[in-house]
Amino acid sequence: MPAVPAPSPVVEMTGITIRFPGVLALDGVDFSLRPGEVHSLMGENGAGKSTLIKALTGVYPVDDGQIVVSGRPRRFSTTADAQSAGISTVYQEVNLCGNLSVGENVMLGHEPRTAAGIDWNAVHRLAGEHLGSLGLTIDTRSTLSSHSIAIQQLIAIGRAMVLDAKVLILDEPTSSLDRGEVERLFAVIRDLRDKGVAILFVSHFLDQIYEISDRVTVLRNGRLVGEYLLSDLPRGELVTKMIGRELDELSALATVADRPIDRTGTPVLQAQGVGRRGVLEPVDVQVYEGEVVGVAGLLGSGRTELVRLLYGADRAESGDIQVSGRPAKHSSPRRAIENRIAFSSENRRSEGIVADLSVAENIVLGIQARRGAMRPIPKGEKDAIVAEYIAALGVRPADPGMPAGNLSGGNQQKVLLARWLATAPELLILDEPTRGIDVGAKADIQRKVAELSARGLSVIFISSELEEVVRIAQRIVVMRDRRKVGEVDSSAIDFDGLIDYIANQPEESVA
Ligand SMILES: Nc1ncnc2c1ncn2[C@@H]1O[C@H](COP(=O)(O)OP(=O)(O)OP(=O)(O)O)[C@@H](O)[C@H]1O
Ligand SMILES: [Mg+2]
Repeated sequence: MPAVPAPSPVVEMTGITIRFPGVLALDGVDFSLRPGEVHSLMGENGAGKSTLIKALTGVYPVDDGQIVVSGRPRRFSTTADAQSAGISTVYQEVNLCGNLSVGENVMLGHEPRTAAGIDWNAVHRLAGEHLGSLGLTIDTRSTLSSHSIAIQQLIAIGRAMVLDAKVLILDEPTSSLDRGEVERLFAVIRDLRDKGVAILFVSHFLDQIYEISDRVTVLRNGRLVGEYLLSDLPRGELVTKMIGRELDELSALATVADRPIDRTGTPVLQAQGVGRRGVLEPVDVQVYEGEVVGVAGLLGSGRTELVRLLYGADRAESGDIQVSGRPAKHSSPRRAIENRIAFSSENRRSEGIVADLSVAENIVLGIQARRGAMRPIPKGEKDAIVAEYIAALGVRPADPGMPAGNLSGGNQQKVLLARWLATAPELLILDEPTRGIDVGAKADIQRKVAELSARGLSVIFISSELEEVVRIAQRIVVMRDRRKVGEVDSSAIDFDGLIDYIANQPEESVA
């Protein structure tokens, strides 16, 4: 049978070069995208994936190279230009308007009109239909910011569909979605692919790459490594191509979850009946010295809500908290910080990274908050701390002076983690610390948490990736429907067991 000729590419980029001050972000990269394929772009944090996308969509001007879209040489100077040429993008960090309604966000710029102006009923009806086709039933008149990041991400995809794109670019769309939502998104992606849309997909989840994509282009340090058919490329080889070496598996970590914890003394954190009406039913949690307590559950199960109440980011209406045996009122994060508790939020954009400040300033922000604004950190001390954490977490580029907003998404996440580790807390609360982090760096972060906890740091670790919860936590608190349904010892459960527990375990009766 003669081979079906491959359709000609809808996007063809050749020799793309982009320089930022001090960084060659892309160095002569070739990339092509065909109609009706899902094409993944892979590489470590900072490899140049988002920059390549921004070169295509007119966010960054290219210093060199050619871009051909649907047979025509193009250089978009704005994303709106790229959109009108049929290229729609859902970025790594949701960038919709938080203060507008869901419906307005979906239909922005494409609102149906009558002679009297925008037809708001139609706006909401159409937005509802688009979101419905993504399996999302949601009040389109609600404010965008009232929804979780995951939902906002789906709304952004709904918006891309309104634009009726020929090319749909998804830059880490799944990093904050749970399994069910990922399945829903993948069904939408397959459907669009079958209709001939070219899809460019970026993710750090290897399982997802293999599940959804036909081809992959690998970048390393701003250079093209190659383009491959996924069906011909074993996983180990893909990882080696990405990181330029073999990943020594996480075997050294395998024993961490089994490390015995002494639970006879006074817990570092003892929370009893901590809750808030409509947000979280009263929960008990204890964390002992050197213990990593995982918090698992589906999206919306109350994981983040729980730690926000423990930390005082939101006010608890009920319950008692004791820190090392002393009663503690966490009416604000400041109090929690005084009690040596640090919290790294899942929402790095709005609660984390200060884009205009340098990497160094972002790292010392937590220490500075504890000392108070009147006692600046001596420069020598500051430089040493910053250098230590840049090295320990492999922040790239290792340039303390660079504005943090210029770092790649994964590297921003590392800076945030460095900020809280640098405060030398007794209890560190990590909400999705490895989201958007590449496979190599993920292992580094897990290793760091394991190492610090072995030296006595107590940790509460939230992650949607159950593998990593099972691997590094000694005990796992399982949440469902905004309540705690139970607690398991991770040596007594494996990955499948945990999935089953999350889905099916009847709620433990409260004595
Ligand atoms: N606006 C900017 N100014 C200066 N440097 C930048 C800017 N944007 C990106 N860079 C640099 O370009 C390089 C590539 O970054 P990019 O965001 O494309 O990485 P990425 O592959 O998307 O990584 P991640 O997986 O972390 O999202 C990095 O070294 C980054 O620090
Ligand atoms: Mg990126």
